[in-house]
Amino acid sequence: MQEVNLIATTTFGLEAIAAHELRLLGFPKQSVENGRIMFRAAPEAIGLTNLWLRTAERVRLCMGEFTAATFDELFEQTKALPWSDWLPENACFPVDGKSIKSKLYSVPDCQAIVKKAVVENMKKRYGRQWFPEDGPQYRIEVALLNDRVTLTIDTSGAGLHKRGYRTLISDAPLKETLAAAMLYLARWYPDIALWDPFCGSGTIPIEAAMMGRGIAPGLHRQFAFQEWPGLSQSVFDEQREAARAAVCTDPPDHIVGTDVDPDILRVARRNAQAAGVADDIHFQALPLAEIQTKQRYGKLVCNPPYGERLGTDAQVKSLYKDMGSVFRRFETWSFYVLTAHEGFENLVGRRASKRRKLYNGNIKVDYYQYFGPRPPKPARTTKTSQ
Ligand SMILES: C[S@@+](CC[C@H](N)C(=O)[O-])C[C@H]1O[C@@H](n2cnc3c(N)ncnc32)[C@H](O)[C@@H]1O
Repeated sequence: MQEVNLIATTTFGLEAIAAHELRLLGFPKQSVENGRIMFRAAPEAIGLTNLWLRTAERVRLCMGEFTAATFDELFEQTKALPWSDWLPENACFPVDGKSIKSKLYSVPDCQAIVKKAVVENMKKRYGRQWFPEDGPQYRIEVALLNDRVTLTIDTSGAGLHKRGYRTLISDAPLKETLAAAMLYLARWYPDIALWDPFCGSGTIPIEAAMMGRGIAPGLHRQFAFQEWPGLSQSVFDEQREAARAAVCTDPPDHIVGTDVDPDILRVARRNAQAAGVADDIHFQALPLAEIQTKQRYGKLVCNPPYGERLGTDAQVKSLYKDMGSVFRRFETWSFYVLTAHEGFENLVGRRASKRRKLYNGNIKVDYYQYFGPRPPKPARTTKTSQ
């Protein structure tokens, strides 16, 4: 099959990290826009990227892009795209839509027009008037931005943050994709000690342990494209098998997750078990004020409560003041804190080395990064000739 156009979608702020992941997977030619990375690749890339991308939300197959300012233009150009090369006769193809700053602003109308145009295209190929839609799912999206239409089919099914290990969640869980992005931004590597003192259901330590073990994030789940007859499923079986074989037997060095709530830690342990990393994380019930470490260097990565979703403002303020003491106690560590609380730096008593705007669900948050001293390089052993 010829190369296809693919789009990896991300939440705002994570595009550069997902683009980096794509380069590591062997897709260096990309164009990056708000919330999406476009790249061209062989169809096998659909399996590979769904399996391995840790920070993308979905992988979409791009069927076409064009400009449309009237419903006629939308209908005719949609109908001309090669839908029936992909959709079998029994395909189930719901149409989602969104429209920003475009003349065609009525999203339900755009959805209905696209549905009709795809049906017309399929009538021609399959020579029938009615389609049962009782087969595999091809979820179409019509997205308009400044009158530019992008038509895609979702290859992922459930969002890629759904790794399959988190059956139980806390009150304010962090998306797995965002947790993985926080670790990438913190430049955490498996030989560096990691501590999440507000670990809740364990997302940050679990994502870290999976990265440390080289476990593909999509190893234990299903994807929409697995039902598609037009794609070689044996190639995907091989990709999954290779991912299984790539799991590293060496555990990461030192991953700790603590939380004041012992009940939520039971959830964290079960999630870690389901992710296959239960032995790689030390979970313990401990309030922030009591955390201590003998590790000289490490990274503390967390998303503490921030009022909007958990705790009263007074509780949150007092907690952030305690964080200031932890920063002083762990003086040679680096700290990475995701919060929506605007007073964070003042309460903790220290300006961040770097601050990055991100989104946790629909909430605008900042990722405060405090760089500690670099650990000394290990002493070099001098080889002497004999
Ligand atoms: C925003 S949630 C963290 C969610 C977590 N990242 C997850 O994936 O589920 C904040 C967590 O901080 C914990 N917490 C609140 N006060 C605490 C304290 N004083 N010490 C330690 N943990 C605390 C709560 O029990 C809650 O699980």
